Amino acid sequence: MVPLAFERVRQTERALLFESPYAHAQITAHEAGWRVLVYLRPEDAAKRGPAAEPGPPRRLKFENGQVRAEGLGPLGLTLEPFALTFGFLTRLRFFALPRVPWQGLPGLEAALPPAEGHPYSGGLGFTLEESPHRRYYGLGERTGFLDKKGKRYTFWNTDETKHTEATDRLYQSQPFLLLSEGEEALGLALDESFPLVFDLAFSHPGRSRIQTPGPTLDLYLLPGPTPAEVVVRLTALFGRPPLPPRWALGYHQSRYGYQSQEEVRAVAEAFAAHGIPLSALWLDIDYMDGYRVFTFDRYRFPDPKALAKELGRRGIHLVAIVDPGVKKEAGYPVYEEGHARGYFVRTARGEELVGEVWPDPAVWPDFTRPEVREWWGNLHRRLLEAGIAGIWNDMNEPSAFALKNARSDPVWGKTLPLSARHGEKTHLEVHNLYGQCMSRATFEGLSRLAPERRPFVLSRAGFLGIQRYAWVWTGDNQSRWEHLLMSIPMLLNLGLSGVAFAGADIGGFAEDASAELLWRWSWLGAFYPFMRNHSAKTSRRQEPYAFGEPWTGRIAEAIRFRYRLLPYLYTLAAEAAATGAPLMRPMFWHFPAEAEAYRVNDQFLLGPALLVAPIVRPGEEARAVWLPPGRWQDWWTGEVFEGGHYQVARDHGRIPLFLREGFAVPLAEEGLAFRVFGERAEGRLYQDAGDGYEPGAWYGLSVTGNRARFEGEARPRVCRREEDGEKPVPLD
Ligand code: GLC
Repeated sequence: MVPLAFERVRQTERALLFESPYAHAQITAHEAGWRVLVYLRPEDAAKRGPAAEPGPPRRLKFENGQVRAEGLGPLGLTLEPFALTFGFLTRLRFFALPRVPWQGLPGLEAALPPAEGHPYSGGLGFTLEESPHRRYYGLGERTGFLDKKGKRYTFWNTDETKHTEATDRLYQSQPFLLLSEGEEALGLALDESFPLVFDLAFSHPGRSRIQTPGPTLDLYLLPGPTPAEVVVRLTALFGRPPLPPRWALGYHQSRYGYQSQEEVRAVAEAFAAHGIPLSALWLDIDYMDGYRVFTFDRYRFPDPKALAKELGRRGIHLVAIVDPGVKKEAGYPVYEEGHARGYFVRTARGEELVGEVWPDPAVWPDFTRPEVREWWGNLHRRLLEAGIAGIWNDMNEPSAFALKNARSDPVWGKTLPLSARHGEKTHLEVHNLYGQCMSRATFEGLSRLAPERRPFVLSRAGFLGIQRYAWVWTGDNQSRWEHLLMSIPMLLNLGLSGVAFAGADIGGFAEDASAELLWRWSWLGAFYPFMRNHSAKTSRRQEPYAFGEPWTGRIAEAIRFRYRLLPYLYTLAAEAAATGAPLMRPMFWHFPAEAEAYRVNDQFLLGPALLVAPIVRPGEEARAVWLPPGRWQDWWTGEVFEGGHYQVARDHGRIPLFLREGFAVPLAEEGLAFRVFGERAEGRLYQDAGDGYEPGAWYGLSVTGNRARFEGEARPRVCRREEDGEKPVPLD
């Protein structure tokens, strides 16, 4: 570790520039935050990161050891050593690595790091002085609990089928930290696609250390002071999720193993027979002809169009999986065309890289190139013509079961070799972007092919900014209570990392769900931004009706509750599109002054108004809950609670759920309704056509005592829940 130091700084109107024989740096100020770019090779001076769009630099000034720019809060700066102070972060010191001491990333020595020959070919990094009061959140998709301090994290998208609380690498990489100390928050984001390591007070309790083997370190410092402000800035940089089609917020049913059109139809019929609402049915890999992407099996799915039409009449959309692995086979048009145009990833020797995934042999399109993305996007025409309404991108870490003409490195997971070529770039550099580039191709293709509709894409892999193109699910979880519990902090940290729309497979993907687990998970899932039940081929069936009564009725109740919540969810979705705010929020999002809010892992807020405390263990009908200061109302009974700790929050046969005083929640109940709590309460509602791009409208509801005012033309029913039932509040 060689500390970086500069003798002088050169000031221009909009940048500070630092030079030394082997390392360079720039500091610029942007609307979202400070950018600090450290680089080894002069040619990287004009580098643009792979995902951030910082916009033009602002005026800045360096005086008396402080850099100032409008709207950003000062940056303390020393040159020798090159170090920064930012908000409560003291002594953020940059270093270079002369060789590759890559703990946790073995094998990297052999991967020919890009600055080969340079004295600092081991890469770049920085250390942070620790504070006992500091907490770390964000970090994208991670197992474990909410606060991430005390562990080392690697960013390398990995198909980790059997992940547990202890797993490090998963499918997504969001190298972003939301740091909090006291009541204050700020953010650090690295727009670097090389593998990264974040050692958060793990190797050394007094210090955190973040490093990359790449030749640049592209760091953004995002001021707070609230978590919401940090996420606004993060998503200003990396993008916000577009408003989804409204149907996507409904209930989705999937299963790996639906073998035929008849089987899919039968599932839809069973939902209808049980009176369970359903917005989408998902087609996993068995719909294809021998896993050839953009085909349908002629015998088992002979008429997808008729199927889509029939389901469409019941309001059910069809979503189809599209994996990146293309079957390498003469006569298969997708392969032939991609091959003729040189669109597939190559080995270091320049041959088409061949491996195995579901199709065998398989090749991988190089989605990092715009022309490949355009081609791929256009291939979706066939699926849209067959009536497919959404696309599910899987295996896009990319996952490779085996390689045929290159050597894989088991340490780096079942993926392409680090030396594979994407144009001029190595796989080492673009691996973490692969899935995102694929979903971008899909999203842009759908936008071109059906410009009047909002694309719906789900992706397993991604990077910072995946939310611009796709929703995310947390991959192959297991039918276990610990996975139900773990999904809460996972989705909360994903939301803090910019991914507002995410879900975990309800009921668990692998292994066998029990009726009780599925019931509890369906209630929790009713509050996920993305509510999908999905399971593996080898696991027991887990559609909502799979276990018979009383379970079917109980699970159906959770799903119907989801549909009651739709106006609220859709309003939160519109808010996410505008500000990046997640739908599912940790307690500290709205209560940053409460120490307890930073510790709670198993309860959360849906938007500002609802507190959800799911049952996370078998056999329980109640649980402990922490209610923040203020008053809260039991959703089911109307009982009122002051803030505080309660040992027994009852589920009332459903889920412990509380409404916050002062808020009004829009609901779909015989038309539009608002449920309010408190003498004074306010709520918002966003409405539009539910798809397409006609502008929508925001409406406010305000309640004072026994009078309610609604801004729109509609006449919603407004009511309060009291212990002896619902009491209407008349509209003015
Ligand atoms: C992967 C996906 C899973 C899917 C399966 C078959 O394991 O994560 O969701 O069902 O592949 O396509």
